[in-house]
Amino acid sequence: MEIFHISAECYPMAKVGGLADVVGALPKYQKSAGHDVRVVVPCYDTKFRSENDFECVHWGTVKLGNFNFPFSVLKETTDKLGYELYLIEINELFNRPNVYGYEDDIERFLSFQIATLDWIIARNGIPNIINCHDHHTAVIPFLFQFAYKYETLKEVKTVLTIHNGLYQGWFGFDKLYYLPEFDLRHIGFLEWNNSINSLAVGIKCANAVTTVSPSYLNEINYSANGLEELFKSVRNKSIGILNGIDFEVWDPSKDEGIASNYSIENFQVGKQKNKEKLCEQFELDSSKPLFSFIGRLFEEKGGDLLPQASALALSENFEDINILILGSGNAEIEKQLQQLRDDYKGNYNVFIGYNEDLAHLIYAGSDFILMPSRVEPCGLNQMYALRYGTVPIVRRTGGLRDTVIDFGDDGNGICHDQASVGDICYSINRAVGLFADKESFNKIIKKGMTTDHSWEKACEEYIKIYNLIIQQNEI
Ligand code: GLC
Repeated sequence: MEIFHISAECYPMAKVGGLADVVGALPKYQKSAGHDVRVVVPCYDTKFRSENDFECVHWGTVKLGNFNFPFSVLKETTDKLGYELYLIEINELFNRPNVYGYEDDIERFLSFQIATLDWIIARNGIPNIINCHDHHTAVIPFLFQFAYKYETLKEVKTVLTIHNGLYQGWFGFDKLYYLPEFDLRHIGFLEWNNSINSLAVGIKCANAVTTVSPSYLNEINYSANGLEELFKSVRNKSIGILNGIDFEVWDPSKDEGIASNYSIENFQVGKQKNKEKLCEQFELDSSKPLFSFIGRLFEEKGGDLLPQASALALSENFEDINILILGSGNAEIEKQLQQLRDDYKGNYNVFIGYNEDLAHLIYAGSDFILMPSRVEPCGLNQMYALRYGTVPIVRRTGGLRDTVIDFGDDGNGICHDQASVGDICYSINRAVGLFADKESFNKIIKKGMTTDHSWEKACEEYIKIYNLIIQQNEI
C-alpha cells in the first residue's frame, strides 16, 4: 500500500515536540512491514536541511488567493531514514529557522498543504492513504473531496491523527479565497464557531480520526478546547492508538550520546556513571536522588507548577534531593526557574533551551522524571524514561494514564491525580522513600525497562485502520 504522511514536523529534519518523533518513526516501521511510505514536511532552514543531500523532483507555483509562490519538492537522497523524505520548499514562507510562531502561519501551512496536493496530483499514480497530522495538515481531507482541481484524487482515503487537540488553526472567512475553488455546497465542513477551524475541518472530512492514546480519545469528549461536541459526533470513526517509541534511537545499551551504555543486567552501575557525568555538568550531588523534567515549559505540560514545586520540595528535602530541568517556552516560567538557581545551588539546576543529546543523558542519569501535565495526548518522555530505567512520576491523564501505573498497584511508576504543587511534592516525597528502599526501587526499574513500547504493535493498528477504510470506507 502507498502511504503518505504529511506533517509540520519530522525528526530529524525538524523537531519541536513529540509530533516529530512520531512522524520520524512510524513510517520507518510501516516501511519495514512492506509498505511504500513517504513523508512530506515543509523545507525549513534547519541543520538537517543544510547537512544532507536533496534532489529536486518537482517544481511549480502554488496559488494562495492572489499570491503565487514558486515551490520545489526536494527528495532526500541517501535513504538513511528508512522511508522517503520529501521537503516542500517555498522559500518566501519556510526559509526560516523556526517551525511555528510566525504571523503568517496560516498562509504558510495552507500553502504547504496546497503545494503538496499539487505535487501528488502531478505524479504518476494515486496513493492509497494520506495520513495527516494535527491542524497544520487538516484541511487536506476537505481539499481532496471538494476542490475541483483534485477531483481525480477524490477516492484517496484520509486519516487525521491528532497529537494535540488544543491547537486548531483557526482563521476567518475573509481568508476563504485562499482555498482552491471548491463545490460551495460543502462550505459547512469548513465552519466551526463562526470561523474556519482547520482541525475541525479534518475531523469532519477524514475517513478516520486517530488520537495518540485511548484515554485521550475519551478525555476530548469533555475537554477539547471547544471541539467536544464534534469529537462526540465522530466517535464511530475515531480510535485511540498508543504511540510507540523508536527502539533504534532510544536504547541505553547502544545510545552513543550517553556516558556509559547499560542494559537491564547492569543498569545500577551504568546509570550511576551517567548520573555522575550529569551531576558534574550541572553541579549536583550524585549521591542524592535526581528528579528531572524535560519538555516545553507551558501550562499544558504543568510547566507553571515547576518553580513552586521545586522550591517547596527542595526546602522540605533540602539535604535529600536534586532537581534538574531542561526546557524552554513561557518566558515568565523560564525566569522563575532560573532565579531558583541561586537559592538552591548544588541541588538544583536548569538548562533553558532544547538539546537532544542532553535529553538522552538526562534519561540515562536521572532517577525520576517529572511529568505533571494538565493535558498529555500521549507523552513519549515517560516511555523513554521507562526504557532508560528512570521512574516516571506522572499526573494521571491521557497517554500517561495508559502507560504508567502506580507502584502501590504493583506498577512501574508514581501517579497523582491533580496537576498541583501539592500533588507533585507529595509524589516526590513518596519517591524519596522508594529511592531509600533499594530492593523495591530496583524491582520497579526492571519492570519499566522490560515494558514493551515498541512501534510494531501501533504500526499494525494503523495498517488495520487503513485497510478498513480502503475496503469499506469506514472503521
Ligand atoms: C504532542 C502531544 C504529546 C504526544 C506527541 C506525539 O506533542 O502533546 O502528548 O506524545 O504529540 O504524539
